[in-house]
Amino acid sequence: MNTIQATTYPIYFNEVAYQEINHFLAQKNYSSLFILVDTNTLRDCYPRFIQLLETNLKIEVIEIDAGEIHKNLETCFGVWNAMTELGADRKSLLITLGGGVVTDLGGFVASTFKRGIDFINIPTTLLSMVDASVGGKTGVDLGVLKNQIGVFANPQMVLIDPEYLHTLDPREIRSGTAEIIKYGMTHDIHLFNEIKDNPELNIVDLIHRSIEIKNEVVTEDPKEKGLRKVLNWGHTIGHAIESYFLDTDHKENLTHGEAIAIGMACEAYLSSKILNFPMEKVEEIKEAIIKIYGKVNILPEDIQPIMDLLIHDKKNEAGVVKFVLLNDYENFELSCEASDSLILDSIQFYNV
Ligand code: GLY
Repeated sequence: MNTIQATTYPIYFNEVAYQEINHFLAQKNYSSLFILVDTNTLRDCYPRFIQLLETNLKIEVIEIDAGEIHKNLETCFGVWNAMTELGADRKSLLITLGGGVVTDLGGFVASTFKRGIDFINIPTTLLSMVDASVGGKTGVDLGVLKNQIGVFANPQMVLIDPEYLHTLDPREIRSGTAEIIKYGMTHDIHLFNEIKDNPELNIVDLIHRSIEIKNEVVTEDPKEKGLRKVLNWGHTIGHAIESYFLDTDHKENLTHGEAIAIGMACEAYLSSKILNFPMEKVEEIKEAIIKIYGKVNILPEDIQPIMDLLIHDKKNEAGVVKFVLLNDYENFELSCEASDSLILDSIQFYNV
């Protein structure tokens, strides 16, 4: 599997990844190594990683609690304090071994500790492999506001080892496939067709192609001035649905991917009404999403609170909700606007 070169760092795959990190550590002059894990990755992924890592450096492991609820400044304080107590200096290296919470938070901790130390991302979930670990976004949540505090900072390298995916339950894998479907609809329809039509996925190929696409996008627009907004396809409505289900006591929790998948169905509908996206493709998307993720019931009384959350999406510009919409597969428009009644119709379209 070919290495992908991002602007300032490589993304290595499979066994090459371990050869490269071992070589890198032997070449560089780091003073010590800190490995950030969460409760799950310490148990499920760390034993494999440490067995394949070859270095004479002093290694310290720092564990945080697993889950988005811990992606906050309090957890950062804990990690900064632990690093200080364990003698981290400006020549220490931080390795993040985990899902998006660990890689986002770890990247932020590293890039602010002593004004910035080097870090390496080793994503262990499908979602973090195809999205969070590449593109330089680091940060934490501030209360309910996702990724409100953070900086753009690039790792020294990213290592993709699909073996770690065996530690995940199928629902988490499905959550990650929503991001792959996203890249498929906007850049390479083959990805969507593979997931839709093949129960036996070659997941490594899909991960590689997804990262290639993400890397192309973020290389052209690292700070999300324009093109990078395409990565929000399905996310405008999807995020609002995700937050609503998360914050409403009597609702089941949706995974990120489940919510984004519904978002893509709704935004496909908007695409057909505002641009010329064919209605048969809207139906195809809805059918595939329901087949893969099951049907989520969005009740009439849920819709207004979801609309209210949409208005608060941090990606809005001057209070106006902006959407990425499709003219066709692999042909998108950034920063489209939709009336409230059309957005409402799009959620109802998913629901019937
Ligand atoms: N997850 C979207 C981005 O990296 O821009």
